[in-house]
Amino acid sequence: MTIGVIGGSGIYDALPLENVRTESISTPYGEPSDAVTIGELAGREVAFLPRHGEDHRHPPTDASYRANIYALKSVGVDRVISTNAVGSLREDLPPRTLVVPDQLFDRTKHRSPTFFGDGMVVHMGFADPYCPALAAHLADSAREATDDETKTEEGGTYVCIEGPQFSTKAESEFYRDQGWDIIGMTAIPEAKLAREAELSYATVAGITDYDVWKEDSEVSLEEVRENAAANRKSINAVVEHAIRTMPDDFESEAWTALEGTINTPPEAIPEETR
Ligand code: ADE
Repeated sequence: MTIGVIGGSGIYDALPLENVRTESISTPYGEPSDAVTIGELAGREVAFLPRHGEDHRHPPTDASYRANIYALKSVGVDRVISTNAVGSLREDLPPRTLVVPDQLFDRTKHRSPTFFGDGMVVHMGFADPYCPALAAHLADSAREATDDETKTEEGGTYVCIEGPQFSTKAESEFYRDQGWDIIGMTAIPEAKLAREAELSYATVAGITDYDVWKEDSEVSLEEVRENAAANRKSINAVVEHAIRTMPDDFESEAWTALEGTINTPPEAIPEETR
């Protein structure tokens, strides 16, 4: 097993990794956001990639989503823990809550959502965008690795907007009316690409703000920064715990996600599923 972690650049500094090395990987989809840092923790191999690059060079629209997933797959990753900063669409999910979502709503507009194309289309199932087995493990880890003041919400819908601007009040109210729970800019297309790459993928998201639906609330940069710093501590603890306690017999349906997909041209379908 190799556990991939995509998130903020600080996370691997916080983990007691051994035998650390970095690998710069070129991909057919361009350069990943950074070199992959690979090390060992509790006997497990772990591969880290900062989504926005070491110095936050890539805005959400232009992060190297395809190259990042390709790079992790190419170093042997079979499951990915992703971390995100998000806004809250619910009064009862205040800043500094951790959320392990189970659904996604895609409101992005300008991102390449597939590895396929160039004469080959693959229609694959994405009804459950996060791997239920990995999400359950992350939610357990969040409950076990954080203090009593840090609330963990298991399940919920993450609406992914294009950004980089935050939402208007009308948009934020619309998302709330749909019953969605958290809002961010980076889950798509990462989750779609992970599924195409047959990777188990789940997210632990830290709430930094109440978005703009709440009376008198604008998303204040200062608020986001302070809460993000607090969330980073909790999320680092959750990721470390999730790695240490990853079950040896872990299995994911995502590992066979390309079996039985509807593909054109038909000869692109793997022999055994035709
Ligand atoms: N990331 C953190 N807070 C956010 C918000 N309110 N909207 C979109 N992305 C976010």
